[in-house]
Amino acid sequence: MSIVIPASLIEEFFANDVAAFTAGLARLEEAIPGDAQPDYDETYDELLGLLEKNREACKRLEQAIGADDVQLRETQQRYQDAIAPWFEQSWMMNHARTKPQGYAGDFQMLTTIYGRQPRSTGLGGYLDLFFLNTELGRAVPARKDALQEFLASEFADRDGEIDVVDVACGPCREFAEGVAVPDGRRVKVVFVDYDEDSLAFAEEVLPASTESLAFEFVRFNALRMQAPKRFIEAHGQFDIVYSVGLCDYLNDRQLISMLRGWRGLLREGGVLYVAFKDMYRYDKTDYQWLVDWFFLERDEEDCRRLFIDAGYAPDEISMQRDETGIIMNFSARAVAAERIDAAHDGVPRPASAKVDATRTNLPR
Ligand SMILES: C[S@@+](CC[C@H](N)C(=O)[O-])C[C@H]1O[C@@H](n2cnc3c(N)ncnc32)[C@H](O)[C@@H]1O
Repeated sequence: MSIVIPASLIEEFFANDVAAFTAGLARLEEAIPGDAQPDYDETYDELLGLLEKNREACKRLEQAIGADDVQLRETQQRYQDAIAPWFEQSWMMNHARTKPQGYAGDFQMLTTIYGRQPRSTGLGGYLDLFFLNTELGRAVPARKDALQEFLASEFADRDGEIDVVDVACGPCREFAEGVAVPDGRRVKVVFVDYDEDSLAFAEEVLPASTESLAFEFVRFNALRMQAPKRFIEAHGQFDIVYSVGLCDYLNDRQLISMLRGWRGLLREGGVLYVAFKDMYRYDKTDYQWLVDWFFLERDEEDCRRLFIDAGYAPDEISMQRDETGIIMNFSARAVAAERIDAAHDGVPRPASAKVDATRTNLPR
């Protein structure tokens, strides 16, 4: 049975809470010179106070609306329209809401978050500063740091030629800042993204390929990796397959077949590395109310279940959090585990592999 909340509750929210919030924003706009660089000063504290009060009001209303997604989305959009005259002044808030590339987390947004510098001045600059300091504004750079450490350690542990694919690479920031390649290794990274502009940007900012570290940029819809045969025909298999920042947008059904497909991309001894946000470690309210940025909500157990459902054995899966604790970085690599269930990965395997229960369930 669906419960319809009284329209008056929503009207009260707009008449009281939203009116107080926008009046506060107008006061701040008046007080902050348009060309002021934002700082962690009294103005910033005042803005934080306004946002805090407002967040609580949004959460209360969201709780009252409950499971009525349509009403919630309509209310959130009406709310975003009401705050737009102030939030449009912030490059980050405006970008996240208007999504020029079709989604909020595009290469420009990610590059701004990695740069940790507000892009606007005046009130907009203070809103940028706030955004950079939100839970996910801090988690995204920490996620990239963890990825760089992972890659550096994999490169150190492997010999000779190392083939890597980065799925949904965005600005490829982890390589723009440099990942050490120890002597004697030759790393080749295939960067995959669907957004041409993102690939062009990355190609421009990344250092030129060298003998020890070569890059290739490929426009490809990652969803097609659910059946990876064609990608393998074009690019071969890999020692390291990683994807950071994509999986929080994919539903369970897509993800299970994607995890299977990625297994198919791995060579023997290969490793898959995938990042997820832990729904219990951040508050979604700011992202869904102030801007229009949604992630599928999952916790550690949910993610482990996805790997299991995709055919991975429990002891093949490990998880390490980033420095903020919000990001769960899962890796799955071959261990000598006994398999009971027959994994299906969309890539034909030799008949012997299908019946040999002592083999690991990662592809070969
Ligand atoms: C949040 S960004 C993450 C970028 C990068 N991995 C990082 O962590 O900085 C998500 C990226 O996924 C890309 N993307 C979204 N859907 C895709 C798809 N179906 N196939 C390939 N790339 C996709 C977007 O273009 C965007 O660059």
